[in-house]
Amino acid sequence: MAGLTLERVNKRFGSTQVIDDVSMQIDNGEFIVFVGPSGCGKSTLLRLIAGLESITHGDLMIDDQRVNNLTPPERGIGMVFQSYALYPHMSVYDNIAFGLKLAKQDKQTVDERVRQTAKILQLDGLLERLPKALSGGQRQRVAIGRAMAREPKILLFDEPLSNLDAALRVQTRNEIARLHERLGSTMIYVTHDQVEAMTLADRIVVLNAGHVEQIGTPRELYERPASRFVAGFIGSPKMNFIQVTAEADAEQGCRVEIPAVGQRTLPLALSAGSTSEATLGVRPEHLIPPPARAAMGWKSSTSSTSAAKPTSIWNAMTASCWYAAPRPQARSGAASG
Ligand SMILES: Nc1ncnc2c1ncn2[C@@H]1O[C@H](COP(=O)(O)OP(=O)(O)OP(=O)(O)O)[C@@H](O)[C@H]1O
Ligand SMILES: [Mg+2]
Repeated sequence: MAGLTLERVNKRFGSTQVIDDVSMQIDNGEFIVFVGPSGCGKSTLLRLIAGLESITHGDLMIDDQRVNNLTPPERGIGMVFQSYALYPHMSVYDNIAFGLKLAKQDKQTVDERVRQTAKILQLDGLLERLPKALSGGQRQRVAIGRAMAREPKILLFDEPLSNLDAALRVQTRNEIARLHERLGSTMIYVTHDQVEAMTLADRIVVLNAGHVEQIGTPRELYERPASRFVAGFIGSPKMNFIQVTAEADAEQGCRVEIPAVGQRTLPLALSAGSTSEATLGVRPEHLIPPPARAAMGWKSSTSSTSAAKPTSIWNAMTASCWYAAPRPQARSGAASG
């Protein structure tokens, strides 16, 4: 187990800046998930951590040691790729043993580690098979076993489940969660799948065009997104955005003028006395159409008089459901969730 620190890590390919001043601190035993749009730099960041790419500038520390110039094996990191990249002519046993033999471990240690790893991953009955005689899920477990067998301090996963069908993905995801519990090793996991990210992560790192937008627990990102990008990226179906005018109200938060709806007061912190054009974000599950409200017997609530009006959907919003930020051109009077 080891902690990891990135200090202003940058990566350029030629003149293209792919990773832009990324800093983060990952604790011992944490399960970190990287998410972000295609091409934002998730795999590159993972490869920089693994030592498969060189860092242009910035520091990478494992525990307290700077590892920028160490080779991948010297860093004590194991990596699992989307394409399992197993050796097709080698048995499951030899695939798992490969890295250990390369590290010149003695025969007995290799045998013990392979069998122990196979047991944890429930591959013990398949050790003599070739990869072509395995299912996708079994192959991915062999790839995980190969990374695990050397007992790395940190395990990296780059979209390891995206080649599996939906049912197998859920099953293997649960296995990875159990594996993390059992090994307690630090894991960094890249995925496009929101459910994977929200269920596996202790903390999620949201990347956008090579920089970090926000780092936080799944709940923090969902309930308190730090930017409009995060608000729109996390959550499926996505958050709705509405352009409004917001005005600070010292006592109650802020008054928001919503086109075609009217004025509403929301418990939203806005700099005192300021008025600004803002974007109001509402999670789909917090919008309840009036007929549904009536069917749910909400008529007796304090807002019953407006429940039948179309505008009353806004009364269904709760304090945790909105996010507001100024439009790019209106810099003063920023509202934040
Ligand atoms: N060896 C390379 N040379 C030049 N550009 C590269 C190289 N590797 C990656 N890139 C560029 O760096 C950017 C980030 O790529 P990366 O593979 O890290 O994205 P990603 O977030 O993993 O995307 P995806 O979700 O599609 O896997 C892309 O624009 C890509 O074209
Ligand atoms: Mg990638």
